[in-house]
Amino acid sequence: MTLRMRMGNEGSVESRPDLRLIDPPARSAEVLRLERICISFGGLTVLSGVDLVLQQEELLGLIGPNGAGKSTLFNVISSIYRPDGGDVFLKGQKVTGLAPHKLCHMGISRTYQLVKTFNKMTAFENVMVGAVYGHRGTGREAKARAMAALELVEMEAKKDVRASHLTLSDRRLVEVARSLASGPVVALLDEPMAGLNASEIRKMLTIIKRARDERKVAILWVEHKVDAIFRICDRVIVLDYGVLIADGKPEEVAKDPKVIEAYLGESASRD
Ligand SMILES: Nc1ncnc2c1ncn2[C@@H]1O[C@H](COP(=O)(O)OP(=O)(O)OP(=O)(O)O)[C@@H](O)[C@H]1O
Ligand SMILES: [Mg+2]
Repeated sequence: MTLRMRMGNEGSVESRPDLRLIDPPARSAEVLRLERICISFGGLTVLSGVDLVLQQEELLGLIGPNGAGKSTLFNVISSIYRPDGGDVFLKGQKVTGLAPHKLCHMGISRTYQLVKTFNKMTAFENVMVGAVYGHRGTGREAKARAMAALELVEMEAKKDVRASHLTLSDRRLVEVARSLASGPVVALLDEPMAGLNASEIRKMLTIIKRARDERKVAILWVEHKVDAIFRICDRVIVLDYGVLIADGKPEEVAKDPKVIEAYLGESASRD
Protein backbone atom coordinates (compact mmCIF):
# COMPACT_ATOMS: atom_id res chain seq x y z
CA MET A 1 0.00 0.00 0.00
CA THR A 2 1.34 3.45 -0.87
CA LEU A 3 1.03 6.69 1.06
CA ARG A 4 -0.97 8.28 -1.77
CA MET A 5 -3.58 5.53 -1.59
CA ARG A 6 -3.82 5.93 2.17
CA MET A 7 -4.08 9.72 2.02
CA GLY A 8 -6.95 9.64 -0.51
CA ASN A 9 -7.30 11.63 -3.69
CA GLU A 10 -8.18 15.11 -2.55
CA GLY A 11 -7.67 17.48 -5.46
CA SER A 12 -6.80 14.46 -7.57
CA VAL A 13 -4.97 14.97 -10.83
CA GLU A 14 -5.49 11.36 -11.95
CA SER A 15 -7.77 12.51 -14.75
CA ARG A 16 -5.33 15.12 -16.07
CA PRO A 17 -2.63 13.44 -18.15
CA ASP A 18 -1.11 16.85 -18.87
CA LEU A 19 -0.26 17.16 -15.17
CA ARG A 20 1.42 13.79 -14.85
CA LEU A 21 5.08 13.41 -14.14
CA ILE A 22 7.14 14.08 -17.22
CA ASP A 23 10.82 13.55 -17.76
CA PRO A 24 12.58 16.27 -15.78
CA PRO A 25 14.64 18.71 -17.85
CA ALA A 26 18.35 18.04 -18.12
CA ARG A 27 20.16 19.94 -15.40
CA SER A 28 23.50 19.75 -13.82
CA ALA A 29 24.15 22.52 -11.37
CA GLU A 30 23.44 22.49 -7.67
CA VAL A 31 21.73 25.73 -6.63
CA LEU A 32 20.91 25.24 -2.95
CA ARG A 33 22.69 23.17 -0.35
CA LEU A 34 21.89 22.79 3.34
CA GLU A 35 24.47 21.20 5.59
CA ARG A 36 23.55 19.82 9.04
CA ILE A 37 20.94 22.46 9.84
CA CYS A 38 19.92 22.44 13.52
CA ILE A 39 17.59 24.73 15.39
CA SER A 40 15.85 24.60 18.76
CA PHE A 41 13.35 26.86 20.48
CA GLY A 42 13.79 26.72 24.25
CA GLY A 43 14.07 23.02 24.99
CA LEU A 44 12.33 21.97 21.75
CA THR A 45 14.61 20.66 19.02
CA VAL A 46 12.85 21.41 15.74
CA LEU A 47 15.52 20.60 13.12
CA SER A 48 18.28 18.06 13.75
CA GLY A 49 21.09 17.94 11.23
CA VAL A 50 19.10 18.46 8.02
CA ASP A 51 21.11 18.04 4.79
CA LEU A 52 19.54 18.93 1.47
CA VAL A 53 20.63 19.57 -2.10
CA LEU A 54 18.44 21.21 -4.73
CA GLN A 55 19.49 21.12 -8.37
CA GLN A 56 18.90 23.80 -10.99
CA GLU A 57 15.31 23.63 -12.31
CA GLU A 58 14.44 20.79 -9.97
CA LEU A 59 10.92 20.49 -8.60
CA LEU A 60 11.47 19.03 -5.14
CA GLY A 61 8.55 18.17 -2.86
CA LEU A 62 8.95 18.42 0.92
CA ILE A 63 6.30 16.59 2.92
CA GLY A 64 5.92 15.61 6.56
CA PRO A 65 3.36 15.55 9.35
CA ASN A 66 2.19 18.72 11.13
CA GLY A 67 4.94 20.16 13.30
CA ALA A 68 7.70 18.26 11.48
CA GLY A 69 9.68 21.47 10.93
CA LYS A 70 8.94 22.21 7.25
CA SER A 71 8.08 25.90 7.65
CA THR A 72 10.94 26.30 10.12
CA LEU A 73 13.28 24.96 7.45
CA PHE A 74 11.94 27.60 5.03
CA ASN A 75 12.49 30.25 7.71
CA VAL A 76 16.10 29.11 8.03
CA ILE A 77 16.70 29.09 4.25
CA SER A 78 15.16 32.56 3.84
CA SER A 79 17.04 33.76 6.93
CA ILE A 80 14.03 34.64 9.05
CA TYR A 81 15.71 32.33 11.59
CA ARG A 82 19.41 31.85 12.03
CA PRO A 83 20.19 28.17 12.61
CA ASP A 84 21.95 27.11 15.83
CA GLY A 85 24.20 24.96 13.68
CA GLY A 86 24.84 24.18 10.03
CA ASP A 87 25.00 26.29 6.90
CA VAL A 88 23.01 27.33 3.85
CA PHE A 89 24.76 27.67 0.48
CA LEU A 90 23.28 29.36 -2.59
CA LYS A 91 25.13 28.48 -5.80
CA GLY A 92 28.10 27.44 -3.69
CA GLN A 93 28.22 30.66 -1.67
CA LYS A 94 27.62 30.52 2.07
CA VAL A 95 24.59 32.69 2.84
CA THR A 96 23.76 31.59 6.40
CA GLY A 97 22.39 34.48 8.42
CA LEU A 98 22.44 37.11 5.65
CA ALA A 99 19.57 39.60 5.80
CA PRO A 100 16.40 38.27 4.13
CA HIS A 101 16.29 41.18 1.60
CA LYS A 102 19.86 40.38 0.59
CA LEU A 103 18.88 36.78 -0.04
CA CYS A 104 16.01 38.02 -2.19
CA HIS A 105 18.51 40.00 -4.32
CA MET A 106 20.70 36.92 -4.51
CA GLY A 107 17.88 34.72 -5.76
CA ILE A 108 15.86 33.15 -2.96
CA SER A 109 12.16 33.93 -2.95
CA ARG A 110 9.28 32.42 -1.02
CA THR A 111 5.58 32.26 -0.32
CA TYR A 112 3.96 31.76 3.08
CA GLN A 113 1.78 29.06 4.60
CA LEU A 114 -0.49 31.83 5.92
CA VAL A 115 -0.75 33.98 2.82
CA LYS A 116 0.97 37.35 3.25
CA THR A 117 -0.23 39.74 0.59
CA PHE A 118 -0.20 43.52 1.13
CA ASN A 119 -3.94 43.81 1.32
CA LYS A 120 -4.30 47.55 0.71
CA MET A 121 -2.31 47.22 -2.49
CA THR A 122 -3.54 45.90 -5.83
CA ALA A 123 -2.46 42.56 -7.26
CA PHE A 124 -0.06 44.39 -9.60
CA GLU A 125 1.44 46.51 -6.81
CA ASN A 126 2.00 43.38 -4.72
CA VAL A 127 3.89 41.75 -7.56
CA MET A 128 5.85 44.96 -8.20
CA VAL A 129 7.27 44.61 -4.68
CA GLY A 130 8.91 41.37 -5.80
CA ALA A 131 10.06 42.86 -9.11
CA VAL A 132 11.61 45.90 -7.40
CA TYR A 133 13.21 44.06 -4.46
CA GLY A 134 14.57 41.23 -6.52
CA HIS A 135 16.24 43.40 -9.14
CA ARG A 136 16.74 46.72 -7.32
CA GLY A 137 15.02 48.53 -10.20
CA THR A 138 11.81 50.51 -10.39
CA GLY A 139 11.31 51.46 -14.02
CA ARG A 140 9.68 50.03 -17.07
CA GLU A 141 11.63 46.81 -16.75
CA ALA A 142 10.26 46.08 -13.27
CA LYS A 143 6.72 46.73 -14.54
CA ALA A 144 7.27 44.34 -17.43
CA ARG A 145 8.58 41.68 -15.03
CA ALA A 146 5.59 42.13 -12.75
CA MET A 147 3.14 41.87 -15.67
CA ALA A 148 4.87 38.77 -17.03
CA ALA A 149 4.63 37.13 -13.60
CA LEU A 150 0.94 38.05 -13.31
CA GLU A 151 0.34 36.56 -16.75
CA LEU A 152 2.10 33.35 -15.77
CA VAL A 153 -0.32 32.89 -12.85
CA GLU A 154 -3.26 33.97 -15.05
CA MET A 155 -4.08 37.00 -12.90
CA GLU A 156 -3.56 39.80 -15.44
CA ALA A 157 -7.32 40.49 -15.67
CA LYS A 158 -7.40 41.15 -11.91
CA LYS A 159 -4.23 43.22 -11.77
CA ASP A 160 -6.00 46.34 -10.49
CA VAL A 161 -8.03 44.57 -7.82
CA ARG A 162 -7.00 45.23 -4.23
CA ALA A 163 -5.63 42.12 -2.56
CA SER A 164 -8.22 42.45 0.20
CA HIS A 165 -10.93 41.90 -2.43
CA LEU A 166 -9.36 38.75 -3.88
CA THR A 167 -10.23 35.17 -2.97
CA LEU A 168 -7.71 33.11 -0.99
CA SER A 169 -6.82 31.24 -4.17
CA ASP A 170 -6.13 34.49 -6.06
CA ARG A 171 -4.05 35.87 -3.17
CA ARG A 172 -2.01 32.67 -3.21
CA LEU A 173 -1.48 33.18 -6.96
CA VAL A 174 -0.41 36.79 -6.34
CA GLU A 175 2.14 35.52 -3.80
CA VAL A 176 3.52 33.05 -6.34
CA ALA A 177 3.70 35.86 -8.93
CA ARG A 178 5.45 38.17 -6.42
CA SER A 179 7.96 35.44 -5.75
CA LEU A 180 8.60 34.83 -9.47
CA ALA A 181 8.82 38.56 -10.28
CA SER A 182 11.90 38.82 -8.09
CA GLY A 183 13.71 36.61 -10.62
CA PRO A 184 14.61 33.82 -8.20
CA VAL A 185 17.08 31.00 -8.65
CA VAL A 186 15.21 29.12 -5.92
CA ALA A 187 11.54 29.57 -5.03
CA LEU A 188 10.24 28.19 -1.73
CA LEU A 189 6.51 27.49 -1.81
CA ASP A 190 4.95 26.82 1.60
CA GLU A 191 1.62 25.02 1.13
CA PRO A 192 0.41 27.04 -1.88
CA MET A 193 -2.65 24.77 -2.08
CA ALA A 194 -3.79 25.13 1.53
CA GLY A 195 -7.46 26.10 1.65
CA LEU A 196 -8.02 25.74 -2.11
CA ASN A 197 -10.80 23.69 -3.71
CA ALA A 198 -10.21 20.92 -6.27
CA SER A 199 -10.33 23.13 -9.38
CA GLU A 200 -8.14 25.79 -7.75
CA ILE A 201 -5.66 23.04 -6.83
CA ARG A 202 -5.50 21.88 -10.46
CA LYS A 203 -4.85 25.44 -11.59
CA MET A 204 -2.10 25.89 -9.00
CA LEU A 205 -0.50 22.64 -10.15
CA THR A 206 -0.39 23.83 -13.74
CA ILE A 207 1.15 27.11 -12.62
CA ILE A 208 3.84 25.51 -10.46
CA LYS A 209 4.77 23.27 -13.37
CA ARG A 210 4.87 26.24 -15.76
CA ALA A 211 6.99 28.26 -13.31
CA ARG A 212 9.61 25.54 -13.32
CA ASP A 213 9.41 24.77 -17.04
CA GLU A 214 9.23 28.34 -18.38
CA ARG A 215 11.17 30.29 -15.74
CA LYS A 216 13.79 27.59 -15.17
CA VAL A 217 13.45 28.10 -11.42
CA ALA A 218 14.36 25.43 -8.87
CA ILE A 219 11.37 24.92 -6.62
CA LEU A 220 11.24 23.53 -3.09
CA TRP A 221 7.57 22.92 -2.42
CA VAL A 222 6.00 22.06 0.96
CA GLU A 223 2.56 20.54 0.68
CA HIS A 224 0.07 18.40 2.55
CA LYS A 225 -1.71 17.47 -0.71
CA VAL A 226 0.63 14.55 -1.20
CA ASP A 227 -1.22 13.36 -4.29
CA ALA A 228 -0.20 16.57 -6.06
CA ILE A 229 3.40 16.29 -4.84
CA PHE A 230 3.76 12.69 -5.98
CA ARG A 231 2.29 13.50 -9.40
CA ILE A 232 4.55 16.29 -10.55
CA CYS A 233 7.70 16.44 -8.43
CA ASP A 234 11.00 15.09 -9.72
CA ARG A 235 11.96 14.04 -6.20
CA VAL A 236 10.35 14.01 -2.77
CA ILE A 237 11.91 14.38 0.68
CA VAL A 238 10.19 13.68 3.98
CA LEU A 239 10.77 15.45 7.28
CA ASP A 240 9.60 13.90 10.55
CA TYR A 241 10.32 15.46 13.95
CA GLY A 242 13.04 17.58 12.37
CA VAL A 243 14.87 14.68 10.73
CA LEU A 244 14.88 13.81 7.02
CA ILE A 245 13.63 10.22 6.85
CA ALA A 246 13.30 9.73 3.08
CA ASP A 247 14.67 11.15 -0.17
CA GLY A 248 13.89 9.68 -3.54
CA LYS A 249 11.64 9.38 -6.53
CA PRO A 250 7.96 9.92 -5.72
CA GLU A 251 7.03 6.29 -6.39
CA GLU A 252 9.77 5.06 -4.04
CA VAL A 253 8.96 7.50 -1.25
CA ALA A 254 5.22 6.79 -1.46
CA LYS A 255 5.72 3.17 -0.48
CA ASP A 256 8.53 3.66 2.05
CA PRO A 257 7.35 2.08 5.34
CA LYS A 258 9.12 4.83 7.35
CA VAL A 259 7.08 7.46 5.53
CA ILE A 260 3.78 5.62 5.94
CA GLU A 261 4.57 5.15 9.62
CA ALA A 262 5.38 8.84 10.07
CA TYR A 263 2.01 9.84 8.66
CA LEU A 264 -0.21 7.07 9.94
CA GLY A 265 1.49 5.25 12.81
CA GLU A 266 3.39 2.03 13.07
CA SER A 267 0.47 -0.34 12.51
CA ALA A 268 -0.29 1.21 9.10
CA SER A 269 3.22 0.56 7.82
CA ARG A 270 2.69 -3.18 8.44
CA ASP A 271 -0.63 -3.36 6.53
N1 LIG B 1 9.47 30.76 16.66
C1 LIG B 1 9.15 29.62 17.28
N2 LIG B 1 9.15 29.49 18.64
C2 LIG B 1 8.84 28.34 19.23
N3 LIG B 1 8.51 27.22 18.60
C3 LIG B 1 8.48 27.27 17.26
C4 LIG B 1 8.79 28.46 16.52
N4 LIG B 1 8.68 28.20 15.20
C5 LIG B 1 8.31 26.91 15.10
N5 LIG B 1 8.18 26.37 16.33
C6 LIG B 1 7.81 24.98 16.63
O1 LIG B 1 8.53 24.14 15.76
C7 LIG B 1 7.78 22.99 15.41
C8 LIG B 1 7.74 22.87 13.91
O2 LIG B 1 6.92 23.91 13.40
P1 LIG B 1 6.76 24.14 11.84
O3 LIG B 1 5.81 25.28 11.69
O4 LIG B 1 8.08 24.26 11.22
O5 LIG B 1 6.08 22.77 11.38
P2 LIG B 1 5.51 22.37 9.96
O6 LIG B 1 6.18 21.12 9.56
O7 LIG B 1 5.57 23.52 9.03
O8 LIG B 1 3.99 22.03 10.34
P3 LIG B 1 2.64 22.27 9.49
O9 LIG B 1 2.56 21.14 8.52
O10 LIG B 1 1.57 22.17 10.54
O11 LIG B 1 2.72 23.61 8.86
C9 LIG B 1 6.40 23.18 16.06
O12 LIG B 1 6.38 22.45 17.26
C10 LIG B 1 6.35 24.67 16.32
O13 LIG B 1 5.53 24.96 17.42
MG1 LIG C 1 4.24 24.68 8.05
